[in-house]
Amino acid sequence: MNGRGRLLLCLFLSAALTPPRQLAVAGAASSSSSKVVTSLPGFQGRLPFHLETGYVEVDEENGTELFYYFVESEVGGDKAPFLLWLTGGDRCSVLSGLALEIGPFQFVAEPYNGTIPRLQINPYSWTKVANVLFVDTPVGAGFSFSRRPQGYDVGEVSTSLQLHELLIKWFTDHPEFLANPLYIGGDSLAGQLVPFIAQKISEGIEAGRNPILNLKGYLAGNPGTGENIDISSRVPYAHGLGIISDQLYETILGHCQGEDYMNPRNTLCAQSLGTFNNLLSEVMTAQILLDKCVYASPRPGTETDKSAGAGRKILSEEAVIVTGKRVKHPPPRVPLGCISYTAYLSYFWANDALTRDALGIKDGTVDEWVRCHDGDLPYAVDIGSSIKYHRNVTVNGYRALVYSGDHDAIVPHLGTQAWVRSLGFPVVDDWRAWHLDGQSAGFTITYSNNLTFATVKGAGHTAPQYEPERCYAMFNRWILDQPL
Ligand SMILES: *[C@@H]1O[C@H](CO)[C@@H](O)[C@H](O)[C@H]1NC(C)=O
Ligand SMILES: *[C@@H]1O[C@H](CO)[C@@H](O)[C@H](O)[C@H]1NC(C)=O
Ligand SMILES: *[C@@H]1O[C@H](CO)[C@@H](O)[C@H](O)[C@H]1NC(C)=O
Ligand SMILES: *[C@@H]1O[C@H](CO)[C@@H](O)[C@H](O)[C@H]1NC(C)=O
Repeated sequence: MNGRGRLLLCLFLSAALTPPRQLAVAGAASSSSSKVVTSLPGFQGRLPFHLETGYVEVDEENGTELFYYFVESEVGGDKAPFLLWLTGGDRCSVLSGLALEIGPFQFVAEPYNGTIPRLQINPYSWTKVANVLFVDTPVGAGFSFSRRPQGYDVGEVSTSLQLHELLIKWFTDHPEFLANPLYIGGDSLAGQLVPFIAQKISEGIEAGRNPILNLKGYLAGNPGTGENIDISSRVPYAHGLGIISDQLYETILGHCQGEDYMNPRNTLCAQSLGTFNNLLSEVMTAQILLDKCVYASPRPGTETDKSAGAGRKILSEEAVIVTGKRVKHPPPRVPLGCISYTAYLSYFWANDALTRDALGIKDGTVDEWVRCHDGDLPYAVDIGSSIKYHRNVTVNGYRALVYSGDHDAIVPHLGTQAWVRSLGFPVVDDWRAWHLDGQSAGFTITYSNNLTFATVKGAGHTAPQYEPERCYAMFNRWILDQPL
């Protein structure tokens, strides 16, 4: 299961963060609450979409409240599908999914100068066609909090049950969405929870738990499964791309048969995987064609390079903010050209008092927002392999889309394709290209039980971040039950 730890570390490049600051709080007002947000700091004018934020209490004993952003479908009408969207980990805030991947606004990539980062509209927002509920989970992620420290001691199973609870309560408060087709979605590490949550919801439906949720299916992008194949498929993937030699490839195949690739017991296997990991570390694993982003400094305030004049200027402006606002542990600054620059900006936006006020963040709950955690809060890895849930849920009549950005070396499409095939479902629509504007945008295959596997050309680990237009087209067609 150390493989999971490794997966976590690789997932978000600018996730290297700071010690725990998520403290239990007493005295904040309790129970579910929500707020309609009509404007946001950094965005000019009224928001051209309907945004509601709020909290749902999912563990009364410990006072655990999960924070959500709900965006109503912009053009989908009354019957538009309803998507619960989750971001991977380690405890990454769902603001990553919202503002960096599939949501209606995103950060303008311009140098941070101490003024609140500006927002712009994402033309490929999945909220055009679907209602999307973005949830900060597990507790401790983003603005979700617990009043008692014990509340943070969760795992995959308890987190999934809390999300089921959240849906039950949310739909009780919003019965107007109960009839909309419900889908569960997430990528990376969240993709491992997705079929399990769908399983739990379907069990609730069978048991007659009210309100009856109108679950139709789920989607999982470059998903972890808890299986060795997520990791071991990096080897043939890297080989096919010319990152490793034929010889190393054959050595690994020869010595690592049946080994856990994260904790190999065979010495020769361990040695060759060491060489492998060194070579792989030369590329940006989340999107192998992009340059690796080198942090401008290890931590603001610790910069030693005196020649970096412009860098120092920005850093000193950060220091000013540190004294006046909540900004205490800003993430390492990345160069402006990096895809992760907007993730860097998210920290300053989310910690601004104006933003917290606009979002209705409860005082005394989350002292400092961090985009991702770094192993500072407990998380039990207790689901095991999620493949049996993929099988069970789809056999029971729910639809599934499993997709892979084909330039991801963290959870390569080769491994995902292999376990999807291993389910043994008959093919109903054989491997073919799917198109956008007359060009192939990826490849797809559909199995019985309505399980579709698709690749997205040019996309990386969190696919919509890299190929927003293609991912939007794929989502749009699949969720409306049209052929890719
Ligand atoms: C920072 O940049 C923004 C956007 O370019 C600009 O509007 C603002 O005036 C700048 N603020 C400072 C303090 O330079
Ligand atoms: C509260 O937290 C404790 C410790 O993590 C846990 O055992 C317990 O189940 C939690 N309570 C509820 C109602 O989930
Ligand atoms: C498969 O789904 C059925 C119906 O929801 C459930 O009763 C059964 O326990 C599930 N099996 C597994 C392995 O989860
Ligand atoms: C697949 O979904 C369609 C509706 O989209 C349904 O009619 C059909 O029965 C499903 N097939 C299976 C094998 O579940």
